[in-house]
Amino acid sequence: MKGAVGRICGDASPTEFSFIVFDPKSVRHTDYIKAWNDVDGWVMAQVVDIKATSDISESEILQGRNVEKELYLAKAVVIGKRDERGMLRIPKTPFVPGENVFKAEEDLVVDVLGLEKDGIYLGLLDDTQIKVNLDLNSFVQKHCCILAKTGSGKSYTAGVIIEELIEKGAPLFIIDPHGEYATLKEPNRNEGELERMEIFGVKPKGYSNVMIYVPPNSPFVDRADGVLKLDGTNLTAEEIVELAGITSSTSQALLYQAIKNLKDRNYTIEDVIQEVESIKHNAKWALLGHLEKIVEAGLFNENPTPVNALLQKGKAIVLDMRGIPPEHQDLIVSRICHKLFELRKRDDVPAGMIVLEEAHNFIPERGMGKAVSTPVLRTIASEGRKFGLGLMVISQRPARVDKNVISQCNTQIILRVTNPNDINAIKRGVEGLTAEMVDEVRRLPPGTAIVVSPELERPVIVSVRVRKSMHGGQAVNIIEKKRGFFKAGKKDKKKDRGLKKREKSFFEKMFG
Ligand SMILES: Nc1ncnc2c1ncn2[C@@H]1O[C@H](COP(=O)(O)OP(=O)(O)O)[C@@H](O)[C@H]1O
Ligand SMILES: [Mg+2]
Repeated sequence: MKGAVGRICGDASPTEFSFIVFDPKSVRHTDYIKAWNDVDGWVMAQVVDIKATSDISESEILQGRNVEKELYLAKAVVIGKRDERGMLRIPKTPFVPGENVFKAEEDLVVDVLGLEKDGIYLGLLDDTQIKVNLDLNSFVQKHCCILAKTGSGKSYTAGVIIEELIEKGAPLFIIDPHGEYATLKEPNRNEGELERMEIFGVKPKGYSNVMIYVPPNSPFVDRADGVLKLDGTNLTAEEIVELAGITSSTSQALLYQAIKNLKDRNYTIEDVIQEVESIKHNAKWALLGHLEKIVEAGLFNENPTPVNALLQKGKAIVLDMRGIPPEHQDLIVSRICHKLFELRKRDDVPAGMIVLEEAHNFIPERGMGKAVSTPVLRTIASEGRKFGLGLMVISQRPARVDKNVISQCNTQIILRVTNPNDINAIKRGVEGLTAEMVDEVRRLPPGTAIVVSPELERPVIVSVRVRKSMHGGQAVNIIEKKRGFFKAGKKDKKKDRGLKKREKSFFEKMFG
């Protein structure tokens, strides 16, 4: 029969069958195919295995290949067909040996898998021209995670999704520890990527509705659109301990005492200092030193940036925290997310999404580190969707991210992962991944993702599209290498200043 790629053979059931492949080059692992079922008509299946066999004897093998006698046998698992109500139906009667097998056409694949006609365009279904669009609302409001080892395309994929969300007008707040997202403003100029744009049907584009905020102690204040000044009132003792790195238990005890004395009113860090000064204890001087350092860092301001500026209709706000110490980053994230969630609950900011890069630093798995931002992020993960506040959690160490947070994510995007602990975390946290898919995760080439979502009937393999805007990841790597290089000679102030100059001119060349 015309167009057939194979024929069913051997034992066939309603849920799986094997077929002889006519042309071994035309049928591949993970291909979508269709076969006729006497009761249900055309039903879609997926190739899960292909084997080459031959019935020539071992002595004949010594003569070399005998193409006439080669046989290619594929195994297919039935996915089903949509009934009149749009429900997926798996046949109850077996497929019949001798029936022809065909490639599934685009409409059938889109319909059976549950892909959207419109939505967040992530890329092409592996080895096809079929666009993978994900449902916008479920994406923004029900959390998503992107997990993969370093260099496999997490930030790039996040960039693709962010572009789509910006175009749909979804308010975004992007927590960017490495300063990789400022380049969303610039159209893609990467030659290799420009060449591949036609395949994906995209054109270069920069986004002018992206705004870059930096903390006041950032080395990049001069090129930001705004400085994020934090409200420093009523810092908890835990926050101060982490912020200042206070390890001495005596200092901690004095701090708890001082804050307890202040408890009934709103207090600033200066009030805490005054309170500690009034304590009669020799250990107070060490504590005061720590507290002064917090003041000097200049994170806090009497006129803090209104947090409702960070989640706005039609805007993506990037909080670029490059060059900010981790303990400051953690506190900033904690304070901002806490306030954003409060505002969202009162409907004082629109529904939107918080993008969290390096999530393992902010919501570590229990027993794998501590962060003051953890409680609020856990709350947003478990309650955010009720209030229309979504999270996009990105991490290269799935095993080190709070596993509850990963399992709360509706859409899970997994790129290449090889570390056995991380693979185990993915097996635990991602429902619906078969053992075969888990094996696949180890082999995924860069830029290829497995996407799991309740809206999709099966996990799908997606070749992530090229970015319309410039990807910032690579540029940052170069800057960080330079910084690392100069760290060795840190005592030399001249060199330090030289570094700042170099970073500036480099940045300006790239993005300025
Ligand atoms: N879908 C893609 N298309 C083209 N290049 C990609 C794609 N995904 C990743 N890359 C390339 O791989 C590099 C590493 O990706 P990146 O997202 O920065 O990795 P990480 O997982 O460490 O965040 C990028 O600089 C980019 O060149
Ligand atoms: Mg990255």
